[in-house]
Amino acid sequence: MNILVKKGTLAYHAAEVALSFHFEEEKVPAGISVSLDEAGGGLITEALSRGDFKGKHAETAVLYPVKPSGPKRIIMLGLGKKGEFNLEKFRGAMARAAQQVRSLSVKQFAASVDLGEMPGQDYSPEAIVEAMVEAVVLGLYQFVIFKTVDQDNIKEVDEFVIVDDRDSVLKQLKKAAKTAGIIAAGVCYARDLVSHPANEMTPKDLAYEALNLGASLKGMNTVVLDSKEMQDMGMNALLGVARGSDEPPKFIIIDYRGGKRGELPIVLAGKGLTFDSGGISLKPAEKMDEMKSDMAGAAAVMAAIKVAAELALPLNLVALVPAVENLPSGKAYKPGDILKTLSGLTVEVVNTDAEGRLILADALYYAQRYKPAAIIDLATLTGACVVALGERVSGMMGNNDELKAKVRAAAEATAEKVWELPLWEEYKEMIKSDVADYKNSGGRPAGAITAAALLSKFVGDIPWVHLDIAGPAWGTKDLPYIPKGASGVGVRLLVRLLRDWPAGKE
Ligand code: BES
Ligand code: MN
Ligand code: ZN
Repeated sequence: MNILVKKGTLAYHAAEVALSFHFEEEKVPAGISVSLDEAGGGLITEALSRGDFKGKHAETAVLYPVKPSGPKRIIMLGLGKKGEFNLEKFRGAMARAAQQVRSLSVKQFAASVDLGEMPGQDYSPEAIVEAMVEAVVLGLYQFVIFKTVDQDNIKEVDEFVIVDDRDSVLKQLKKAAKTAGIIAAGVCYARDLVSHPANEMTPKDLAYEALNLGASLKGMNTVVLDSKEMQDMGMNALLGVARGSDEPPKFIIIDYRGGKRGELPIVLAGKGLTFDSGGISLKPAEKMDEMKSDMAGAAAVMAAIKVAAELALPLNLVALVPAVENLPSGKAYKPGDILKTLSGLTVEVVNTDAEGRLILADALYYAQRYKPAAIIDLATLTGACVVALGERVSGMMGNNDELKAKVRAAAEATAEKVWELPLWEEYKEMIKSDVADYKNSGGRPAGAITAAALLSKFVGDIPWVHLDIAGPAWGTKDLPYIPKGASGVGVRLLVRLLRDWPAGKE
């Protein structure tokens, strides 16, 4: 989709649709809708005074000016109560408006950043533009590449124009729109990777994607290690999980150098299970198909480093993706097996379905060789986290309060919710094994925490945060700008974190 910022007045701009914003308290046109109402011959006043349109959050009404000198259609968009308004509310409403445009089979629409009077809540025009663009692009996302029938029924909006007549802000608005466009495209990239079924997104396919990023982006380089190289290094936890599958595992290393030479990088690690059947500890058939999304952590870190390079953030970054398929077979690893991890520590496999922590154990230990300033891992790690926090919230655990605070701030700014779970010593006791150093499951109690407790054994004293994204990675219901299915969760959060990183402040 094309996103443009143009100089002009919305009411006189020949758009297919112009958006008219309304708060619940306003019974007459205000802000941008005053001139739109004039251009539309009083249609907006009419809709408001009859009480048909109330300005409830994300409410829409389509109006047709009789002799349009400006936009051909006006869509009134409710922004809800002034006191409850925030950028997340705005994203939700904007996404609904974009979907309304699409459902009309209209290809183009326009809006202005003027939200009228908002007591006590003034957002910068740039923040409004970023929210608009993100909501529109993300709200219109659909994964349709495997549909071959009724393609005519697939509707797509081609263009979104932001119109502003102030010369003084036009340049900043263009920059904000461009930045948000890059971030939103990154989220869609992650969604695409996750939406691809496991037969079309094997570890090799994921590695191919990563190599593509390395080849096409400035400052970026990708190296992919194969089984032989992993064997030589001793990544036996990762290799143990991979053994049941005929698809060879890949260890993906993407390097982005945007910061000073020698400046310590931030490592982003992502769980890359391209399919998780559970292995010998096989999962039930119901919803097993959703386990194609068990590489959502990988997708998020790949998208985040892609966005960082496209925004030319002044940071050094490394994305690590252990990419593996977990299947049962005659060669598969078994409950009771003991694996010697890259770190030398041994782990008893009590459940082959607790595979994510095994591949991450090797990836996190590998991360230490960079002496990174921080390690952040994202993983669809446990069903227990979904039980604890639900489908829309990620669990956060880590060893460093400062880093946790940074992640929390990025989560709040992007509305990608995280909630901290404790990582106390008691939990670390629960994963001690009788026959090895640790075991890969502490059973049902505190399942999200004991999983993170195992990870904590492989990060040394590097500041580290683990985000268990098992809940939000895959949605079963449409949200305004997160259609059901792959959400791309983590990308916006990570990019916010990186943009705000002290040395990398824009
Ligand atoms: N990939 C799953 C976790 C998961 C479950 C993600 C549901 C998204 C939705 C993970 O590998 C897993 O199977 N974890 C087990 C661990 C258990 C065997 C200790 C789980 O959560 O049941
Ligand atoms: Mn599993
Ligand atoms: Zn898994």
